[in-house]
Amino acid sequence: MNPKEWLRFYMEMAQWFGVEGLYFPSAKEPPDASSPPAQQGRAASEQGEKGEVVRAQPSLASAPQAGLFGEEEASELLVVPTEDRRKALHVIEEAVANCTKCPLAQTRTKVVPGVGDPHAQLMLIGEAPGAQEDKRGLPFVGPAGQLLTKMLSAIQIQREAVYITNVVKCRPPRNRDPQPEEIASCRPFLQAQLRLISPKVILALGAFAARTILSKPPKVSLSSLRGKVWELHSGKLLVIATYHPSALLRYPQYKKLAWQDLQLLQRTLSSLSSQEA
Ligand code: URA
Repeated sequence: MNPKEWLRFYMEMAQWFGVEGLYFPSAKEPPDASSPPAQQGRAASEQGEKGEVVRAQPSLASAPQAGLFGEEEASELLVVPTEDRRKALHVIEEAVANCTKCPLAQTRTKVVPGVGDPHAQLMLIGEAPGAQEDKRGLPFVGPAGQLLTKMLSAIQIQREAVYITNVVKCRPPRNRDPQPEEIASCRPFLQAQLRLISPKVILALGAFAARTILSKPPKVSLSSLRGKVWELHSGKLLVIATYHPSALLRYPQYKKLAWQDLQLLQRTLSSLSSQEA
């Protein structure tokens, strides 16, 4: 896409997301001073304003089965075999393919372990595969996936540069919500992918992904989790939660908020890369 095409695309996306007035982000623009994520170490409260940094306290010591990471696992997150991540990911994919731990193994067509750059700084985590994904064995290839690709493009991220997976690796029949035991059966695969890829930022798509990653109980709403940057593992891993693209296709009222979350993601990533420079 040349710059003119990109501008047109960006404006179309902004319009689709219901943005009034054009905010045109430049790749060189300094990150929003109010949200330098990992460094500033601001209030450790969950009551913060939208866009602020929040220290997530998964505190899994008290409920180890409820969350994605246990305290004891925090240090392991960054100790990953880096020599050949692609091979190691393949091993995880094979384990997923052979998995029969939950009833979804009987109804799936293909497993959908995940796809993308094994060295990605950004990992996207959705809920569970849908019909198209089940047919092709790839995540986010249906209508929600097409929207996701455009959402990434709007903040100048190529889909190939990220790693995309789901909390549950097999399609629940008729796209019903994944059950707690299905999420629990798949958790070791997600943990292994996270340890291996060791992303700097996770974008959690939808309530199931957000609650699983942030270790929140089932009643916690997505609206209380989105709009901020969560710090896990002393800020080594940042998490932003937003609406699932399927929800955006069905409920246009969430589009403006999702757009804000995308901008927050972009600021967070650019703040990280300016810290690295
Ligand atoms: N919805 C998801 O959560 N994941 C997919 O892979 C597709 C649709």
